[in-house]
Amino acid sequence: MSLRNCRNVKVLKVCPVGQHKRADEFFEITLEYPDWDGWKPGQFVMIRPVGWELDLLWARPFSISSADGRSVTLFVQKVGRGTARIASLKPGDEVAMWGPLGNSFAVGPDTPTLLLAGGIGIAPFRGYVEQHPHPENLRLFLAHRLDLACYPFERLSGTVAAECMLEDKPEDLQEIISQMDALIREYAEKDGLVLACGPTPFMRTVQRVASECGARAQVSLENRMACGVGACLGCVTKDGDGHHVQVCTRGPVFWTDNVEL
Ligand SMILES: Cc1cc2nc3c(=O)[nH]c(=O)nc-3n(C[C@H](O)[C@H](O)[C@H](O)COP(=O)(O)OP(=O)(O)OC[C@H]3O[C@@H](n4cnc5c(N)ncnc54)[C@H](O)[C@@H]3O)c2cc1C
Ligand code: FES
Repeated sequence: MSLRNCRNVKVLKVCPVGQHKRADEFFEITLEYPDWDGWKPGQFVMIRPVGWELDLLWARPFSISSADGRSVTLFVQKVGRGTARIASLKPGDEVAMWGPLGNSFAVGPDTPTLLLAGGIGIAPFRGYVEQHPHPENLRLFLAHRLDLACYPFERLSGTVAAECMLEDKPEDLQEIISQMDALIREYAEKDGLVLACGPTPFMRTVQRVASECGARAQVSLENRMACGVGACLGCVTKDGDGHHVQVCTRGPVFWTDNVEL
C-alpha cells in the first residue's frame, strides 16, 4: 500500500452511535467504498477531509469497523481538533482516504476467542464479529467509562456472548482488572485466542496477564500516525527484540510477547 492508493471519496452519512447525553462525541461515519480488494478486521484507513487547511496537516487513522462492498464505516470518538472536524462533515463532503492499511487480527475459526475492548477500542471488533465464520466461538468484554450507548455494544451483543463493566469509581478499576485477569487465564487454559484493543494501560494489563499464564494474545496499538504507510516514522515502537518498527506497517496488531508497551 502506498499513497498512490489515496483517493477522494464522498461522505455518505455521519450519525451518533446511540441516544445519550454525549451523542455528539461518539459517531459513526460512512464513506464511499473505493473498490478495495478486500480488507481484514484489525486493518485501518487514514482519512483527511479535503477541506482541511494547513492548520490540520496530517490525516488521522481509524480502524475499519465494517465495509459492505459499497461503503466503509468507522466508529469515532471525538477527542481533539481533527475528530471534532470529522464529526462536522456532511453527506457529499470529500475526504482523502487511503487503505486498508496494516495487518489484521488472528482468526481461528474453531478457536475460542476472547475480544477485550477498552472504550472505543471496540471499533475493530464489529468487523471481526461480522466476518468470523463461527461467531458462537467469540466472547466480548467491554470496559467503559461512559454511557454504554456511546459504544456499538448492543449491535455485537446480539451476535456474540458479551459482557461489559463500567469504570465509574476508582474501586471499579480493580474489579475490571480482576475480571480481565480471570478471563485471560480461562482462555489460556483452553488454548484460545485473546485479542485486545483499547488505551495503553488496558493493553499493558493484557500483556502482563498473558505473559504470566501463557495466553496467545494480540493487542492493536493506537500510536500517533501521519502517513500510515511506513514513510514518516511517526508511529515507531519497539518489538520484542528491542528493534524499532513502524506500527502502521508491522502492526497495528502485535502478539503481546513481541512488542514493548
Ligand atoms: C491504527 C489506529 C486505529 C484507530 N482507530 C480508531 C477508531 O476506530 N476510532 C477512534 O475514535 N479512534 C481511533 N484511533 C485513534 C484516532 O486516530 C485518534 O483519536 C485521532 O487521530 C485523534 O485526532 P484529533 O485531531 O481529534 O486529536 P488531537 O487533538 O491531535 O489529540 C487528542 C488526543 O488524541 C491523541 N491522538 C492524536 N492524534 C493521534 C493519532 N494520529 N493517532 C493516535 N492518537 C492520536 C493524542 O495523543 C491526544 O491524546 C486509532 C488510531 C490508530 C493508530
Ligand atoms: S505513520 Fe508514518 S511511518 Fe507509520
